[in-house]
Amino acid sequence: MTTANAEIGVIGGSGFYSFLDGLDEVRVDTPYGPPSDPIAVGTVAGRRVAFLPRHGRDHRYPPHKIPYRANLWALRSLGVRQVIAPSAVGSLTPAYGPGTLAVPDQLVDRTYGRAQTFYDEGGAIHLSFADPYCPVGRRTALDTAHKAGWEPVDGGTLVVIEGPRFSTRAESQWYAAQGWTLVGMTGHPEAVLARELALCYTPLCLVTDLDAGIEEGEGVTMEEVFRVFAGNVDRLRTLVTTLVESLPADRACPCPHALDDMELPLQLP
Ligand code: ADE
Repeated sequence: MTTANAEIGVIGGSGFYSFLDGLDEVRVDTPYGPPSDPIAVGTVAGRRVAFLPRHGRDHRYPPHKIPYRANLWALRSLGVRQVIAPSAVGSLTPAYGPGTLAVPDQLVDRTYGRAQTFYDEGGAIHLSFADPYCPVGRRTALDTAHKAGWEPVDGGTLVVIEGPRFSTRAESQWYAAQGWTLVGMTGHPEAVLARELALCYTPLCLVTDLDAGIEEGEGVTMEEVFRVFAGNVDRLRTLVTTLVESLPADRACPCPHALDDMELPLQLP
């Protein structure tokens, strides 16, 4: 049992394996096993922050094997109530080229076979998920990004695919034809598990490539995704630091009330 504590969690994506120097590392166990990595905890810009690399710092977990439940449970058990979630995504929109920062407001789940609820025993729990992301977190992220010189895309739909392969051109064209704007592999079930723990969850999507149905070249490669992410990660880290500082602590959003009046079949940490 650790005594470490934090109020804001940052879940770093591909290439975002560390946050700041000088944070303490804590090992947290959960009923769902250990999270992807030890969690780095410390004070950043006056706020208590917990950082967890989603894939593990050596990228050992592919998107479909990430211990999503353990990750969210571990963060909440440290006291985290607001989660910032940077990730690499492909673009389904020609105007959103590599390097674009997007803060989507919707998601579509095209994953399968991932554990996507904490409430699968002891009684049915059906949570509202019409708006999957924290409205205050999104607004703060957009304002903070603007101030830092980004031109972030406000809104849009992230389709989350099972992976680990990228999409075929036909799949990609189909997603784009639905009006979906971004494609990634990790945004689900992360967002819904955050909601199930009454956490605020704010995605920060960094476009690393135009998806296969949008560009005419060879299609997306892993090399391209990592190279573009690496080229932007310092800027993204700076943005996350400013966002940590700017997120209002009072949580005047619907997220803390996600579980109001529910008879939960388990005790939350
Ligand atoms: N992550 C980064 N680029 C991606 C793409 N094109 N499809 C799915 N996930 C991605």
